[in-house]
Amino acid sequence: MLDVVKIRADFPILAREVNGKPLVYLDNGASAQKPQVVIDAVTHTYSHEYANVHRGLHYLSNVATEKYEAVRGIIARFLGVADEHQIVLNSGTTEGINMVAYGWAMPRMQAGDEIVLSVMEHHANIVPWHFLRERQGVVLKWVEVDARGYLDPQKVIDAISPRTKLIAITHLSNVLGTKVDVNAICAAAREKGVPVLVDGSQAAVHMAVNVDEMGCDFYAITGHKLYGPSGSGAIFVRKERMAEMRPFMGGGDMIREVSRDQVIYNDPPMKFEAGTPGIVQTIGLGVALDYMMGVGMAAIAAHENDLRDYAQQRLAGLNWINVQGSAPDKAAIFSFTMEGAAHAHDISTILDKKGVAVRAGHHCAGPLMDHLGLTATCRASFAMYNTRAEVDVLIEALELAHELFA
Ligand SMILES: Cc1ncc(COP(=O)(O)O)c(C=O)c1O
Repeated sequence: MLDVVKIRADFPILAREVNGKPLVYLDNGASAQKPQVVIDAVTHTYSHEYANVHRGLHYLSNVATEKYEAVRGIIARFLGVADEHQIVLNSGTTEGINMVAYGWAMPRMQAGDEIVLSVMEHHANIVPWHFLRERQGVVLKWVEVDARGYLDPQKVIDAISPRTKLIAITHLSNVLGTKVDVNAICAAAREKGVPVLVDGSQAAVHMAVNVDEMGCDFYAITGHKLYGPSGSGAIFVRKERMAEMRPFMGGGDMIREVSRDQVIYNDPPMKFEAGTPGIVQTIGLGVALDYMMGVGMAAIAAHENDLRDYAQQRLAGLNWINVQGSAPDKAAIFSFTMEGAAHAHDISTILDKKGVAVRAGHHCAGPLMDHLGLTATCRASFAMYNTRAEVDVLIEALELAHELFA
């Protein structure tokens, strides 16, 4: 079991006060706080080991390149990928999915071809596919969730037609906390020859992921949710898909030779990594993932499941709170509205006065909001450093908000 007191001591920001109250940070779904080891790695790199990567023959450039390149291996280990050459480093999920949309999907799809999506995708896994709809007449096929916010994998499989060219699906909903059985979807899709892109932005934070076992074609992660720096991330791209994919961006680093008449690309994955990357951010991400693996993904999941159960039980005691999503084994992410109360923004402002940071809004999930018939919710999303005592502070702050608005 995880020692939460020890973990909290690793995150300096958790010791601060906000509005005169101890910070209760429950906006982890948007971005997680950083442990001291990550902050130290960033400072150390800039102070002692900084230079551009892949370019110089001097000492510092070699050190920076070695540290940067080592992160590819750390990410591969973190995601259960045996061959690290299938990891493309980038600035996060948005870049990863856009790379797939432009580099792999766009040249392969014609008008009438279909992409299957769930209604609970984040805009990062919707808008790049809308580009293909707008520009090439690709059809987006939406799979609904049930009243609990559960996504039946069979419904995704049933949505596959002879025109389906891709399934693009979240592994864990940033709004409902629903986990998706992507293994079942990938197994069925593979039989039908349909590639699967999995948005792992939220899942990789909360549970052990094994991409090789899953059998997906693309798996996107984003560093700032994984206790790492913003502007870092990666996408797993299966070797066969890499061979089919065109580079999305052109520039330095992704080439071997350039002349007036031709360009010879670098080998994958560098073929897909144009320009000076987020060197220090990526090095920081490697440290963050090592930190997570040091704590242990099973221990993180067990701790967060305990928080989920406790929060679920306490929220159920507030009969004027409507929590969206009750799928079995959901993650510790609670989107809610307050009966008869003001807008989610007003609730979050009251919570903020009590030091409780939650997110209010549409959570970049327009189709899901339409499905729920809501324009906004408040979202409390938990991380490995949260405690039951913080759940109690959230409940007290909600009771105050209810009193004020009733
Ligand atoms: C499920 C999901 N997908 C994609 C993203 C986009 O991540 P980023 O903005 O880091 O690219 C997020 C971030 O909120 C998310 O929650």
